[in-house]
Amino acid sequence: MQKKGIKCIAVLTSGGDAPGMNAAIRAVTRAALTNNVKVFGINYGFQGMIENDFSELNYEDIGGIISLGGTILKTARCKKFTTYEGREKAYKNLKERNIDGVVVIGGDGSFKGAAQFSSEFDIPFIGIPGTIDNDITGTEYTIGFDTAINTVVEAVDKIKDTARSHGRIFFVESMGREAGLLALGSGIACGAEVILIPEVPEQEKELDRFINKDIVNKKSSGIIMVAEGYKTGGALKIAERVKAQHPDIEARVTILGHIQRGGNPTAQDRITATRMGVAAINGLLVGKKNIMIGLKNQNIVEISFSLVKKAFRPINKEFIDLQEVITRH
Ligand code: F6P
Repeated sequence: MQKKGIKCIAVLTSGGDAPGMNAAIRAVTRAALTNNVKVFGINYGFQGMIENDFSELNYEDIGGIISLGGTILKTARCKKFTTYEGREKAYKNLKERNIDGVVVIGGDGSFKGAAQFSSEFDIPFIGIPGTIDNDITGTEYTIGFDTAINTVVEAVDKIKDTARSHGRIFFVESMGREAGLLALGSGIACGAEVILIPEVPEQEKELDRFINKDIVNKKSSGIIMVAEGYKTGGALKIAERVKAQHPDIEARVTILGHIQRGGNPTAQDRITATRMGVAAINGLLVGKKNIMIGLKNQNIVEISFSLVKKAFRPINKEFIDLQEVITRH
């Protein structure tokens, strides 16, 4: 491998934490150290870059973290980095330590900041997608999604027990911002009767069909999986509408919330994080910059920051058709 004078790098996590970020930090650090490259961890993402919150990472600092949720480097959403003044301060702090490259583990907002920085200063950045939302263009996978979807499935399986016992319907809200992938996948995995996601709002007719056919006048139970970004108001709003129309049916709302961001990463998240972490270092070593490491057809790919966006990603229609076939009777 050709080494482009990279002697020292920094790694940070930014935006919402996601299970598997630690596995990525470990992979980045180990791959760098293997190549005799010094590593600094930056605490609290870009905020720490501006506030000079760096600490050197060695093997002992990352021992045993592959299985831990959260991020040992802490994370933040940093407004100051959106200003030139903030980025200039960050640059000075990187330069002071002779840092030749930075690996940013985070979501699209973090890459936007990284891209802006790279257009102004001469330190290359490489991104690794980490968010439970799986909502970044250019990669079919973001670290944390598999763990989060399994957390949702485990929680909904438990809710189903009580739903069945009481003959109630539950509106269960998953995270995902404007993206419905978490709700769609977990809804299918849990056997949800209806799945409501922002990408396919017309599915609300399935909710009315289900209520009128299976719930009204019958003490039946069911799970309505709702993405938080579904219309405005998520599960609460839609439950309100149904309760107003059918005051006799027993309905409850469960908002799963931040439980979806925690927990030990699944094997898939650990493996993907490890692959992406090593790929990021390999990229820096051969002089790559301003790219995000992604996954396409299960293979590692590199995507220019200029093409990386928060995506209203097209939903695989097969999943929607599948849901209709499975739940119609
Ligand atoms: O982007 C990850 C995510 O968990 C979203 O699913 C959610 O909408 C948001 O972050 C919550 O952000 P915060 O932790 O700042 O409340």
